[in-house]
Amino acid sequence: MINKEIVEWCTGIINKLCEENRFRNKEIQQGVDGEKEHAITVLSWVKKLEKHPSVALRISALFHDIDRLVTPGAGRGFAGDRKSEEYLLHKKMHAKRSADYTSQKLKEMGIEESIIIKTRFLIEHHDDILEEISSYKDKDLEILVAADAFSWFSTTGINLLKSEGEERTKDKLRFILSKTPKFALELLPEVKINNLVLENLKKHVLKEIIK
Ligand SMILES: [Fe+2]
Repeated sequence: MINKEIVEWCTGIINKLCEENRFRNKEIQQGVDGEKEHAITVLSWVKKLEKHPSVALRISALFHDIDRLVTPGAGRGFAGDRKSEEYLLHKKMHAKRSADYTSQKLKEMGIEESIIIKTRFLIEHHDDILEEISSYKDKDLEILVAADAFSWFSTTGINLLKSEGEERTKDKLRFILSKTPKFALELLPEVKINNLVLENLKKHVLKEIIK
């Protein structure tokens, strides 16, 4: 399979998973359509940030949060303190489950081992803290994390604001921007946010982080 076909096949899997899980839509914080939109928006940000993204990066953009669709209960989000160790562990487990699922699917399709290894690495570390992300010195990982952060404002962030209110959304944004690579933080002021509350939160949290 050529790379373009692999990415199309991945998009097809997401569509299929969305339909299969629509019956439990309420269990999934953003709903199945919200999850699909997030995946596609992350991929489009990846393409804006990197002219020729690797196939592993494109697969990771689509599948990094697949856990929320395929693991019952995982789509509800986190009710506790987003500044806690427990939250970091929750995010690591989410990333690992997404990586496990994706690796298995890619293996079943007979995708080349090197692509599976790189995809697994990217997904497994997409929710790490900045110190860990920086330590890998991996450009694809930094782009994935940046694309995930940028897409949050037009997808997950809007849903979170509706379901959890401004203060909880601000805490989530602190978590996201605290792990966003420097190059992306520098681009963020120019990213147009079509929601005034999120735009203000962006400015506020950016000011806290870039001191
Ligand atoms: Fe994401």
